[in-house]
Amino acid sequence: MPVFVCEGSGVKKPVGSMPGVNQMSVDVAANWLAERAENGFTAYMPFGVIDKSAKDATGSEALRETNVVCRLMREVRRRKLNLLAVPDLCFCEYTDHGHCGPLTSDGCSVDNDATIELLGQQAVNLAHSGADVIAPSGMMDNMVAAIRAALDDDGFDNIPILSYAVKYASAYYGPFRDAADSAPAFGDRRTYQMDPAGGVEEALREVDLDLQQGADMVMVKPAGPYLDVLAAVRARVHVPVVAYQVSGEYAQIAAAAEKGWIDRDRVVLESLLAIKRAGADLIICYWAEVLEQLLPAESGTLAVCHEK
Ligand code: PBG
Ligand code: ZN
Repeated sequence: MPVFVCEGSGVKKPVGSMPGVNQMSVDVAANWLAERAENGFTAYMPFGVIDKSAKDATGSEALRETNVVCRLMREVRRRKLNLLAVPDLCFCEYTDHGHCGPLTSDGCSVDNDATIELLGQQAVNLAHSGADVIAPSGMMDNMVAAIRAALDDDGFDNIPILSYAVKYASAYYGPFRDAADSAPAFGDRRTYQMDPAGGVEEALREVDLDLQQGADMVMVKPAGPYLDVLAAVRARVHVPVVAYQVSGEYAQIAAAAEKGWIDRDRVVLESLLAIKRAGADLIICYWAEVLEQLLPAESGTLAVCHEK
């Protein structure tokens, strides 16, 4: 379950492009998560919605243990909710230019090596605040090795890394950038995210590199439009494969359903079933509240028949 957590208290602010999804302050988000935990959900992925005044060129708010993501994870621990915290690790929510790390001196692109050093520090900050798994999403070269080393140095060698290993520079992230207020102020993310036109081999190479660097799980993102990639990754690796049904996939279904053009519940289940059939061990999606109504409480899973 992704969760968009913002400053304030008592805040529940609908995301315009994602009907049913809200930005929530720490108190409201913790209550919301408590309900989901009671209904059988097991993990959440907090994303920080950072006040403009706290953003700067390097995203330094990400390194403070008082940021909203760290505060939410502490609150979930304090309440002893039965949930794993799997924070997304990236700087785009924290930088004033909206890119996934500090820029090079010419201001034209992200400084890869400065970013992975900072990602290590951000990972340690998240671990100190209660992260159970760290999920780096920035697609920087050698980021997994840098994060692994930083975590190990601080005694967090038992915290696994879920790498966004195969992440396309996708137009399907549009609504998320509304939700997290993280749209790049100029340019796009094509210098670090993958070309949708690239072949499956490129995806497998990215997966191999991240596993060599110590990734414990790998993600394919978006999910629905890349089922061929997902299936190829599943066939290749012996670690859990995670698929992210992203904001644009969610918005398409939600919008068409609002217009009465499709049967939302059936399309939700069908879209997730396809992702599972293609090989996902774990799915990240925005449908938690809807799925509570649709999935039998005792199983909480989608049934796929495997002929083996
Ligand atoms: C941060 C991040 C993004 C998403 C997850 N982590 C945005 C991006 O890369 O622009 C997108 C998730 C979604 O669209 O649901 N790097
Ligand atoms: Zn990012």
